Amino acid sequence: MRDNDRAISYPRFAAFYTWLTDRSFVRLGQERFRRECLEQAEGIVLEVGVGGGQNFPFYNAERVERLEACEPDEAMLRVARRRLAAAPVPITLTCAAVEALPFPDACFDCVVATLVFCSVGDVERGLGEIRRVLKPGGKLLLLEHVRSQNRVAAWMQDSLVPLTTRSMGNCHWNRDTQGAVLAADFQLIQVRKLLGGLQPVLCLSVIRPPA
Ligand SMILES: C[S@@+](CC[C@H](N)C(=O)[O-])C[C@H]1O[C@@H](n2cnc3c(N)ncnc32)[C@H](O)[C@@H]1O
Repeated sequence: MRDNDRAISYPRFAAFYTWLTDRSFVRLGQERFRRECLEQAEGIVLEVGVGGGQNFPFYNAERVERLEACEPDEAMLRVARRRLAAAPVPITLTCAAVEALPFPDACFDCVVATLVFCSVGDVERGLGEIRRVLKPGGKLLLLEHVRSQNRVAAWMQDSLVPLTTRSMGNCHWNRDTQGAVLAADFQLIQVRKLLGGLQPVLCLSVIRPPA
């Protein structure tokens, strides 16, 4: 799968991220954040950048009818495939980048992205695609680490970006994802700051405005 004519393939990062998120201290540390974001998912849901399916266990079968899961990196997809059988909701897994979603207009009630937009090649195009496939009034749920509001911390994030993009699967540690989402004409419903310091983490709920 390609994004902006660049292959999205980071097998070493995929192996490292899978190992890391399987450690119990990381898994338990992230659990609260994942629950907080995913408990709001309902109806027909699309998750973009599913990675190794780290969110699959958190979908509530009473609220979620089915999940379309997209991931552009084959190495991540292989891990996600192994986790399908244990998932609590029906899942279809597709190789796709958020910038080119293979779905018709207005077909999802909800779209989920967790720890994805720091790595996306073309954020504006990706958000435009999410807007296109969401039904009017549909929800976009994001759990993302973002640019710090503190000038010194933001400067440190900027300095580290050449390193994080090279070693962490194109991760831009300094992205203002909330700003990008609002600029893409989503309507803010709720924003919760879950972590601060050098790695502020936000749980954002926005909607595609009703027609
Ligand atoms: C840090 S991992 C997060 C995985 C998972 N969502 C989670 O919460 O643990 C970032 C994921 O974003 C995916 N990604 C990178 N660029 C993408 C793009 N343009 N479209 C969709 N996903 C992308 C990567 O392949 C990777 O699986």
